[in-house]
Amino acid sequence: MNVSVIGGGAWGTTLAQALADNGNDVLIRDINPNFVDKINNLHLHPFFDKEIPSSIKATLDLKMAVNFSNVLVLCVPTKAMRNVLTEIATLVNDKKIFINVSKGIEPNTSKRVSEIVDEVIPQNYLEGYVVLSGPSHAEEMILRKITSLVAASKSNDLATKVQNLFSNEKYLRVYTSSDVIGVECGGALKNAIAIVSGISSGLGLGENARAMLITRGIKEIVAIVVTLGGEMETAYGLSGIGDLIVTASSMNSRNFQCGLKIGQGMSIEEALGSSVQTVEGIRAIEAGYEIAVKNNLELPIICTAHELVAGKLTVKEALHKLMTRSLKNEKYW
Ligand SMILES: NC(=O)c1ccc[n+]([C@@H]2O[C@H](COP(=O)([O-])OP(=O)(O)OC[C@H]3O[C@@H](n4cnc5c(N)ncnc54)[C@H](O)[C@@H]3O)[C@@H](O)[C@H]2O)c1
Repeated sequence: MNVSVIGGGAWGTTLAQALADNGNDVLIRDINPNFVDKINNLHLHPFFDKEIPSSIKATLDLKMAVNFSNVLVLCVPTKAMRNVLTEIATLVNDKKIFINVSKGIEPNTSKRVSEIVDEVIPQNYLEGYVVLSGPSHAEEMILRKITSLVAASKSNDLATKVQNLFSNEKYLRVYTSSDVIGVECGGALKNAIAIVSGISSGLGLGENARAMLITRGIKEIVAIVVTLGGEMETAYGLSGIGDLIVTASSMNSRNFQCGLKIGQGMSIEEALGSSVQTVEGIRAIEAGYEIAVKNNLELPIICTAHELVAGKLTVKEALHKLMTRSLKNEKYW
């Protein structure tokens, strides 16, 4: 079948390869002419310079990508999502399936991508929405290393359709879920904890501290997921703790790397500026903090990280604040 991938960066082009491996015709749309040229003429992944199937085509033309298929895979940074969807809404003239693979929360509104799609795409053009997320470094999947994802949708039929579209027996195994909120929150908030984990490594703390942050971090993600109406089980699954494990301990994660640089003394602006790729975690920290305040949740890691990001605490003061909290039973935050 034809599939359009909107956003041909590290992850979008990697997913395009999986779709092509599974026998689909893929058209990528990106705004970067160098990427489009590299995909069309050199058949190379724009970031990893790895050969990709020559059947994958790319275009700068959003209209062409929208007309190419009734399946649109959304893979642009979350901060660009509303603009891209607004443009799509002016071009669409039949029903589309929207598959979101971006992991973030919208700046200013703190909305999830499913909420943005609902607001921007007219219902008569919305066949359905699926979020596809899980522990997945593009750097590994482009080499066809074994990866698992979760496809979550309110429609079981659509989740199953996306499961079958992406799964193959060689390297990609997709599970279904009905918990859109849980999968979206897990994918976004693990980037917040990954930044904190990177900071702890940058400070020279060890693996003991990292294990504490991952374990106590997932507890905070669970609190947010459940508060927003998702399921605890989802947060403890692939798209929650699975993605947190892969992100919070890996140099392949740009969120972890961003935190590492902050821990080593760089300012947040310098750390963000040094990454050519999308870093969603700072925004996730802010969104997590807003959700905590609004719902009266005690989330010490996310809220302390927010004070750090807001410039109210230094890294050392943030660490001191976390270590001097009153001692408590593990079941409490
Ligand atoms: N890289 C990974 O391993 C990975 C894995 C899973 C999910 N994700 C998520 O996927 C999303 C994209 O990540 P990525 O790694 O591909 O990032 P990236 O920075 O490599 O690619 C983003 C792409 O979006 C395009 N883009 C940027 N602004 C745009 C705009 N306004 N309109 C249209 N296109 C625009 C860019 O040209 C770029 O090609 C993020 O939310 C990320 O968290 C990434």
